[in-house]
Amino acid sequence: MACSDTDYAYLRELVLEQSSNLIDPSRNALFDTRLTPIARLSGADSLGDFVNMLKAGRPAHLHRAVAEAMTINETSFFRDMRPFEMLRQVLIPRLIEQRKETRRLRIWSAASSTGQEAYSLAMMIVEHFPELAGWDVRIVGTDISRHVVDYARKGRYRRLEVNRGLPARMLLKYMTRDGEEWEISPQVRSLCEFHYANLSGPLPFLPFFDLVLLRNVLLYFSQQDRRTLFNEIHRKLFPSGYLVLGNAEQAEDSTNLFEVEFGADCYFYSPVSAS
Ligand SMILES: C[S@@+](CC[C@H](N)C(=O)[O-])C[C@H]1O[C@@H](n2cnc3c(N)ncnc32)[C@H](O)[C@@H]1O
Repeated sequence: MACSDTDYAYLRELVLEQSSNLIDPSRNALFDTRLTPIARLSGADSLGDFVNMLKAGRPAHLHRAVAEAMTINETSFFRDMRPFEMLRQVLIPRLIEQRKETRRLRIWSAASSTGQEAYSLAMMIVEHFPELAGWDVRIVGTDISRHVVDYARKGRYRRLEVNRGLPARMLLKYMTRDGEEWEISPQVRSLCEFHYANLSGPLPFLPFFDLVLLRNVLLYFSQQDRRTLFNEIHRKLFPSGYLVLGNAEQAEDSTNLFEVEFGADCYFYSPVSAS
């Protein structure tokens, strides 16, 4: 199923409005593959027909479904490894020292996709920080795609997924094999929760966090939308908290609300206090 250039332009605008994700015209074919199943389910004969349904605004939830279907959910356990070394060597020890009175840690995997980032962090905490066992620790994963949020909640992964990034020792220690799938252990799972949240809007329902991982999602946002998102993250982060971005991403081009720090061969950010 393909459609006209005007219809593709309409779809790009719709996705931008719903999720702040920029889709380059060179990737129009992605609309064909991702939207054809939804178009068929909605009773449309062609993508052009489907666009007409969207334009008519009925039913409204289809607009959201289009944005969710167009997300790129690429992820893996311990993705890029070095940020996890930095978390283990620098950030988690600092937070343990800073929060030893309250014994409470709130971590946000913003744009958590299918959950590997949150579960990797939970495995690292269980493995390397036994002193946190008596603390109130929560890792909250959020994503705009309900499909990946449900997937993350199940905590079940295929062989191909566990083969990407998860050391064999961690796999055997923190996952249990069930037929063709591997299931996250109750201990690791109990630290994590997953929810729907759209980063392109205000997030009043989320708590404040000590640590935010915002990795490999900014690249889909315009400079203006990045700035708005950094404002929101700044609001959600405790003044002594930390922000970790993806390897190829930086905050300083879009905002002056965070200052960059360096540790364990990696960059991370601290919020600049409002004065
Ligand atoms: C490439 S994945 C990155 C996953 C993980 N953070 C990592 O680095 O491996 C990007 C995720 O961002 C989510 N996403 C894109 N736009 C979003 C938005 N406006 N609000 C929330 N999540 C969004 C997508 O659904 C996708 O799961």
